[in-house]
Amino acid sequence: MVERFTESVSFDQRLYREDILGSIAHVRMLARQEILAAKDAKRIEKGLREIAGEIEAGRFRFSSKREDVHMNIEARLIEKIGDVGGKLHTGRSRNDQVALDVRLYLREVIDEIRGQLLRLQEVVLERAEETVDVLLPGYTHLQKAQPVRLAHHLLAYYQMFSRDGERLSQLRERVDVMPLGAGAIAGSGYPVDPGFVAELLGFSRVAPNSMDAVSDRDFAVEFCSAASLILLHLSRWSEELILWSSEAFGFIELADAYCTGSSMMPQKKNPDVLELIRGKAGSVYGDLQALLVLMKGLPLTYQRDMQEDKVPLFHAVDTVRGCVSVFAALLETVRFQADRMQREAEQGFLNATDLADYLVRKGMPFRQAHGVAGRAVRYCLDKDKRLEDLTRPEWRALAPEVDPGVQRILGLQQVVEARNIPGGTARSQVRKQLRQARGEVKKRWVRLEKDEAKSSVSV
Ligand code: ARG
Repeated sequence: MVERFTESVSFDQRLYREDILGSIAHVRMLARQEILAAKDAKRIEKGLREIAGEIEAGRFRFSSKREDVHMNIEARLIEKIGDVGGKLHTGRSRNDQVALDVRLYLREVIDEIRGQLLRLQEVVLERAEETVDVLLPGYTHLQKAQPVRLAHHLLAYYQMFSRDGERLSQLRERVDVMPLGAGAIAGSGYPVDPGFVAELLGFSRVAPNSMDAVSDRDFAVEFCSAASLILLHLSRWSEELILWSSEAFGFIELADAYCTGSSMMPQKKNPDVLELIRGKAGSVYGDLQALLVLMKGLPLTYQRDMQEDKVPLFHAVDTVRGCVSVFAALLETVRFQADRMQREAEQGFLNATDLADYLVRKGMPFRQAHGVAGRAVRYCLDKDKRLEDLTRPEWRALAPEVDPGVQRILGLQQVVEARNIPGGTARSQVRKQLRQARGEVKKRWVRLEKDEAKSSVSV
């Protein structure tokens, strides 16, 4: 019962590649430092490679008789090559070993998710390029506010994903630290060379303090935090797309592949994929919370509680990976209903601010202009008219300052083009945003490839 209760192999077996990789680097270092005979090191390395092959071919049986992935692999090594296999663990503890494995794992996962995010950003850019001239109402308080270009709206999400990617790149630097040599707590008692292990495994730094090295999990917390923000952004957009696909909005149509029907109501087409992304976001916040609470009461250094870090970490990894890629695929296939958007942008007095601004240009203080424009809107509501439909006599009664030139500023296109400042929704500004984003994505791919090359060590 206790064996079954304390095991971690059921979930940490996914670290087998990192574990074997770390062991090979360790054993090479031991031979180089003459802690181990070269021929022993060779036999151990060969045995480890064979075990990697067995696992990959599905011929390896992980057993909870051995607590974790590390002990399963070591036991199999000894079974294969005899007592010499027992020399692998010289100068090492599972405490620094597991820290190394998780860092190796996370470094690769981070790069993979950075790539997925860049792919998603590319899809956003593609969709934005097609929709520079589509206008729709922008909302605050879920009430129509001002018209914007659809591309501008989409690019807002681009910026969120851009920060998400940046966060992951910064986190990668903190993950990229090699902890082996820390031993169980105080540092290995052998003349090990952590710098050499770091070099073999493509790490840019060695952990500067053995006690911190075996007990730090803040990088895992940070990952769950970054993952939470990615899910937060995906969840917000999912929610918005769900609204947009409703009959009330009618702004988009989702491809059938991303929807399901109802088992009872034949007319239904439900946006399940988006709902699930929105739903899964909560479980990743749970992972973050679980890690924070797991760690908050632990005195230095390793405590067995920390074995439980992998459950939320792996869950967050799987969820964020799944959600980013399915969302990108869905976004590629969304059909924007441009006519409907434009019709909605023409209704609802989205040019009322522009009327007020017009009066300001005529010399009226803004507060007063705001009141006049508000009265004009109320008048139109009573008469079932739009501001641009008001006649000269009507304007004379409402605001004598208004002359026929007002027509030129009330049209939908003009309202959008009036926002011609950096970050605004005017055509040229949106095109500029697009250009800058393209350049950024290109640079980030290059940086990602460089990072991947640095960590592309293999068994
Ligand atoms: N299964 C353990 C974990 O995942 C490995 C480290 C065990 N260390 C120890 N001193 N019991 O955290």
